[in-house]
Amino acid sequence: MDARERLRLYLEQRREMGESEFVLDSLPVDEVLRLLGDKQPAAPRSAANWRETLASIGAEAPPPRAAAPRSPVKEPNTSASGEPSPRAPVTPPAAPPAAPPVTPPATPPAAPGAGLVVGSPMGELLPGPLAGLASLDEVARHVAACRGCELYKTARNHVPGEGHPHAGFVCVGEAPGQTEDELGRPFVGRAGELLTKILEAIQFKREDVFICNVLKHRPPGNRNPAPDEIKACSPYLLRQLELLQPRVILALGTFASQTLLQTTQPIGKLRGLVHRYHGVPLIVTYHPAALLRNPAWKRPTWEDVQLARRIFDSAAQG
Ligand code: URA
Repeated sequence: MDARERLRLYLEQRREMGESEFVLDSLPVDEVLRLLGDKQPAAPRSAANWRETLASIGAEAPPPRAAAPRSPVKEPNTSASGEPSPRAPVTPPAAPPAAPPVTPPATPPAAPGAGLVVGSPMGELLPGPLAGLASLDEVARHVAACRGCELYKTARNHVPGEGHPHAGFVCVGEAPGQTEDELGRPFVGRAGELLTKILEAIQFKREDVFICNVLKHRPPGNRNPAPDEIKACSPYLLRQLELLQPRVILALGTFASQTLLQTTQPIGKLRGLVHRYHGVPLIVTYHPAALLRNPAWKRPTWEDVQLARRIFDSAAQG
């Protein structure tokens, strides 16, 4: 089967799955462009050059975004759900992630504006009963034994989070869904599969980063987390972040973003800005579950994750 036919079949499959956009796939952009008759040599193109790429295939690229907050875009509540997938333990690699940096675009994107600032810098160890926990595994053991709220009674498993113990890039979602509860791992349902693809689009393997949630136990029926649950669970996330000392945090969806940033501002106002969470740059983007329902958010998500990747890269150089 030639490449054009493969592409046609692939796109048909995607359409059958209810998807109408083709933005965050791992199919190499250059290969697709070649299929579409592009004569340019592949080398100068990069994942970061998405405006150029869209223009070259005749698709409209939105104008560069100003740093100022934009009009709000409403995201529906992003409760976690998904289909079962086999549990596979993640073995942390010996060395910190060494993902290749995203090549800077020819025209640098507009500098993002500064956002909200929450908490004192990570360096000043936060007081509290968890301050003595010396590793992510220890935090996970405390999560397993946690009785700080009622969720442990209905959850099948605790879901502390997983990934590289020295990850510089941390993704924070809302709470485990059904599949996550069954498997004791974060983001392993359909939304998780999409998150893995999104990470791959910015040259991260899932195991290079750390993935966790604000809540470490599943709220029954995927209902929204309650304030007392957030209060009880937040110290675990904070200790995880203290131990990881990430270069950037990616907050996934309205709930994680508003909880971490202690705001009720809609996600459309929080996106595109560099917030600070205990000194760590924090970027807000749509929840992968919301993207599955609304493919129109894929492009803004692509911009958000590229911004997060650029901050990660520049922190590495600084
Ligand atoms: N949604 C989340 O917010 N977290 C998960 O772990 C899975 C889905």
